[in-house]
Amino acid sequence: MDKLLIEGGVPLQGEIAISGAKNAALPILCAALLTREPVTLTNVPELNDVATMLKLLAQMGVKVTVEKVGAAGNEDAPPGADSPRTVGAAGNEDVPPGADSPRTVGAAGTAPLTVTLDASGLDNPVAPYELVKTMRASVLVLGPLLARCGEARVSLPGGCAIGARPVDQHLKGLAAMGAEIGVEQGYVHARATRLKGARLFTDMVTVTGTENLMMAACLAEGETVIENAAREPEVVDLANCLIAMGARISGAGTDVIRIQGVERLHGVDYRIMPDRIETGTYLCATAATGGWVRLTGAFASALDAVIDKLMDAGCEIVLERDAIRLAAPRRLKAVSIRTAPYPGFPTDMQAQFMALDAIAEGTAVIRETIFENRFMHAVELIRLGADIRIDGNTAFVQGVPRLAGATVMATDLRASASLVIAGLAAEGETLIERIYHLDRGYERMEEKLAALGGRVRRVK
Ligand code: EPZ
Repeated sequence: MDKLLIEGGVPLQGEIAISGAKNAALPILCAALLTREPVTLTNVPELNDVATMLKLLAQMGVKVTVEKVGAAGNEDAPPGADSPRTVGAAGNEDVPPGADSPRTVGAAGTAPLTVTLDASGLDNPVAPYELVKTMRASVLVLGPLLARCGEARVSLPGGCAIGARPVDQHLKGLAAMGAEIGVEQGYVHARATRLKGARLFTDMVTVTGTENLMMAACLAEGETVIENAAREPEVVDLANCLIAMGARISGAGTDVIRIQGVERLHGVDYRIMPDRIETGTYLCATAATGGWVRLTGAFASALDAVIDKLMDAGCEIVLERDAIRLAAPRRLKAVSIRTAPYPGFPTDMQAQFMALDAIAEGTAVIRETIFENRFMHAVELIRLGADIRIDGNTAFVQGVPRLAGATVMATDLRASASLVIAGLAAEGETLIERIYHLDRGYERMEEKLAALGGRVRRVK
């Protein structure tokens, strides 16, 4: 298994481009199931979770075409010469190299994917366990399959490292729209001749729950109102894509979303929004190493809570139209955080901030209110010399002057990012094991860190 070897103590300095958002790309890929016409998505990040979702869609009968947009530096190559092959997933290898690959060039440092999905041949509305168990977001096919085919068999995702993460709110909402839902042998069997609009209320704010129900409601008969809806920017990105496909949605980004069902949706060309959690992660890595960074293609507006906390910690931040600049102080001040649904402090940035607080001046209190077990990075940070005490869903972090490199183990996606940040700040070498977790949600992290002067190497 791959490991990351990090030599710490080097301030990160420079400029990198932010990739497309994983948590917008995953639901938007599923939205392609809602139409028989081709959907072309640009700025799709090249991540393992995206590859898993494309595999899941392809085995349902969706024709998937992936084209890697040329990274900067080959714009002078003649068209088609080395412009990346259009690589089909299973079933359409016959696409000639570069046949229909428009030669646009990704921003420096990224090589986003252009993905075209054609669900006209959708003939197998099943999400099998072996794919769903590796990625919980697979549950996002449930709503679209029900709306498009009137039936779906989707494996229950099972728990994951950060918590039980049930999908009862997804099922409750679909049942309220008239679906017959049964659960047997670990699979959800759902069936509905045609979903009917309903007034839905989720017991807690659920991001993919809101997304599943919003997609299902697009083709339902009549109006659906989702109350207590998630307000995350990725929910808004999905809504914008659905609206561009002909859906009638209002209120996305607020806690009440209204959807008027329509007969069908049409194809679309849509660009995925930048990844706010990747942005926050690189801001934290720079802050932890006392450096400076300019992140291009970043949406500052989606990160207010994180930017406020970084400024409280002593960082100087400048927001440009589509870039963010940060300069770190010599030593950070400890900041306390409490995670909450958007626009509160994002739970996906909690682990990264614990690494910052571990070396900051003072004591920080970190409250995790979304997931019941999202502190597994704490014991690994303690191996690096951090002074952290956990009491239920609260962590008390006493800043220490410096961390010392050691071998640590990644347990989940954002915990891995936290260990990378700590390793970059620690003295000496840190070896992070099981970094397949990182590859799920960060596009070529070691290359981006190296572009900022970080001494990071992937070793077998
Ligand atoms: C999404 O997960 C994100 N994943 C997560 O990002 C993120 O941490 C989470 O939202 C919270 O912001 C994607 O968007 C693909 P929830 P999701 O449903 O939708 C409970 C990452 O690192 N709940 O908002 O699965 C649930 O157990 C990932 O990129 C129920 O009880 O999260 C949790 O405690 C990690 N029943 C809370 O609600 C349900 O039916 C919030 O979960 C649904 C959720």
